[in-house]
Amino acid sequence: MTELVHTRADLARFRSAYPGTVAVVMTMGALHEGHETLLRAARERADHVIVTIFVNPLQFGPTEDFDRYPRTLETDLEVCRRAGADLVFAPAVADMYPGGAPAVRVNPGPLGEDLEGASRPGFFHGVLTVVLKLLQLTRPDLAFFGEKDYQQLTLVRRMCRDLDVPVEVVGVPTVRERDGLALSSRNRYLSTAERAVALSLSRALAAGVAAAGEGHDAAAVLTAAQAAFGVGGSGARLDYLVLTDPDLEPGPVRGPARLLVAAWVGETRLIDNAPVQLDPAG
Ligand code: PAF
Repeated sequence: MTELVHTRADLARFRSAYPGTVAVVMTMGALHEGHETLLRAARERADHVIVTIFVNPLQFGPTEDFDRYPRTLETDLEVCRRAGADLVFAPAVADMYPGGAPAVRVNPGPLGEDLEGASRPGFFHGVLTVVLKLLQLTRPDLAFFGEKDYQQLTLVRRMCRDLDVPVEVVGVPTVRERDGLALSSRNRYLSTAERAVALSLSRALAAGVAAAGEGHDAAAVLTAAQAAFGVGGSGARLDYLVLTDPDLEPGPVRGPARLLVAAWVGETRLIDNAPVQLDPAG
């Protein structure tokens, strides 16, 4: 049985009745198979699973798609039921931010200004602020996040470590369509032609992973990924394609690494990433 609550008082009432291990899966709704995989992973590890559904205005820039962001509560609830969630917390903006937009926000540090943060100023301040609030409200033992939003996952881990938030952050691998496209709530904005163009992202990652598998160094892996993306000619507008340390730390890359890509396809901004194993001797 999946209960739906909208207020923090109702959330607290259900939460305090849960014995054992509690997991949270935070979402902005528009749930797809990728979220369902997160929920099932949470279900396997925890006695109780709480899903939060909240389109967080703090993480949308003035020109971004807050109003356009899909709101599909009824179908989201079906996904939560199917995956065995115990509780769905879907607050209104006024419930999350009763005093209006908060003056005090979590500062993500330098990594928050890089990659996604470079294109979306204030984005990670908004993400980490709502994640911290939702962690306080749900008080989970475990919090599950998709690797699809790899920089977000890295920053959430870092916030919990740096601010001593007592929760285990669990990353769950990206779910893909058969042709490689990473599942994302934003894929629904793509036309058929744009969807074909969007494959440049996963194609670039696959080429990078393959080049690393053949023993190529970091520079050659990046070149292979760029060529497969079709820089300048794929129809997608590349924002970044980078090969970094798996913790997104600056410095030389060798051994386990992460290849990350972001690009515009028409009006839609897509991101993707993959683990890459480079020669540790580099
Ligand atoms: O990944 C998302 O859907 C959001 O950034 C999150 C973590 C739910 C915070 O609003």
